[in-house]
Amino acid sequence: MTEKLTVSGAKDERYKQLVPQIKNLLDDKADIISDMANISAALKFAFKFFWVGFYRVKGKELCLGPFQGDIACTRIPYGKGVCGTAWAHRQTIIVPDVNRFPGHIACSSESQSEIVVPVFNKDEIIAVLDIDSNVLNDFDTTDAHYLEIICSLLTRS
Ligand code: SME
Repeated sequence: MTEKLTVSGAKDERYKQLVPQIKNLLDDKADIISDMANISAALKFAFKFFWVGFYRVKGKELCLGPFQGDIACTRIPYGKGVCGTAWAHRQTIIVPDVNRFPGHIACSSESQSEIVVPVFNKDEIIAVLDIDSNVLNDFDTTDAHYLEIICSLLTRS
């Protein structure tokens, strides 16, 4: 049985506490979907984000994977929306105000800001981590830094 996660303090402090706990609960012998599911739950628990989840690369589009939050759109084409753009540009994208991002795909009108982090397996992007906040300008380079570390924990040998 896994123990309950514990996090407290400011954002940077929370991520510092969370990363080793996530490392402990991941299992690289399990299906990667299992690890994505636990990462989504851990991030939702630690930060109470409005929506946390993964979209997985399937051919020329992203397909909804494990997530925590409201129901969401199922498929996102390559280069479309924030998720498809992060995939195409192969980099993390921080969107302070989703209403100002051309082509943003609104799964919920409550979403105000967003961060999307590509998940690399070696050189190949296999998924993106998408986090939505119901607060404007909720993400910064601290989030990008730690979320990239967390996504790198999904690498399979
Ligand atoms: N806003 C995303 C779509 C996914 S939902 O936010 C869960 C985008 O523009 O790609």
